[in-house]
Amino acid sequence: MDIKKERFQSHTFYTLKNNCGLEMTFCNYGASIYSIKYKGHFVTYHEDDYAEFLKSDKYGGKTLGRVAGRIKDGVLKIKNKTYHLERNEKNNTLHGGKRNLSFRHFATTLSENESTMNVVFKYTSLNGECGFPHKVRFIVVYSIKKDENCFSIHYHAMTDGLTPISMAPHIYWRLKGKDVLNHNLMINAGEVTTLNKDLIIVGKEKVRKIYDFRKAKKIGDDIKEVAKDNPRANGYDCGFILNETDKSQIVLKNDGIKLSIKTDMNAAIVFTNCYPSNRKMKEYGKDVIYGGVAIEPQMYAPHLEDKFIDSKHPFDHYISFHLEDY
Ligand code: GAL
Repeated sequence: MDIKKERFQSHTFYTLKNNCGLEMTFCNYGASIYSIKYKGHFVTYHEDDYAEFLKSDKYGGKTLGRVAGRIKDGVLKIKNKTYHLERNEKNNTLHGGKRNLSFRHFATTLSENESTMNVVFKYTSLNGECGFPHKVRFIVVYSIKKDENCFSIHYHAMTDGLTPISMAPHIYWRLKGKDVLNHNLMINAGEVTTLNKDLIIVGKEKVRKIYDFRKAKKIGDDIKEVAKDNPRANGYDCGFILNETDKSQIVLKNDGIKLSIKTDMNAAIVFTNCYPSNRKMKEYGKDVIYGGVAIEPQMYAPHLEDKFIDSKHPFDHYISFHLEDY
């Protein structure tokens, strides 16, 4: 296995190369993908160096959880009991609270077989962490094909009682070019989430034209209208409910590079980096609006109870990614 290990601050970065042009750097902090290189060119929009990455709160490449997305007022009700979760976005809980999975130190194991190289990150979250009940054992498995430019993420979460879990990745993509407005996007989704003014998902509706990517179009085509439709989001920041199909549900293309995504989860948040930060980005310098697009496959469930798992029903989902020339 072609692998480079680097210690930086108290974390470890692992760079794996396959035989046909895919190079990925992972970090055990947040069970993350720091960067992805395809045929010598970065296709991720990521921080300039490890120090920027570790201090960033923009979730780039990190694993989201215990619950990806927003929970209103940080309130979780299970049977007759109310739990008050850590609130980290005004009154609400974003991506599981202040010290959520993205900012945790995972244990790492590396392995390989004939066709794949695997990076396995494990973390046990104790009962009460970020306000959530029950102990949860998290496993994130990244597998890279040795002879194909494909990789996958498998998420597992096992618990000892009733508790909500919704894991997701937060990779910002930018295949090539000065921002992502010229990127061509196809999403096989006939419905999109509806949001309140704090971007909390309140339901779903049939896609209106500006949210309709069933026929591929440029991200920039309708983005001004989208920003008017939801000023707080200032661009795309909503969930697309994916149609069931055997084919890739999401395809992103620009300037000769094509990314195809397939998942067994029923939705994906698409977030067009609408609020740039002070972070410095690799190769691109200052973080800019629409500088990258985060595609976050995850489970859509109208009520938090629909995300409950228990000791007999673990969380177990996958996402696969394929990069190629076109
Ligand atoms: C996304 C979310 C955005 C923003 C981002 C992190 O999942 O939809 O509103 O919070 O994470 O910067």
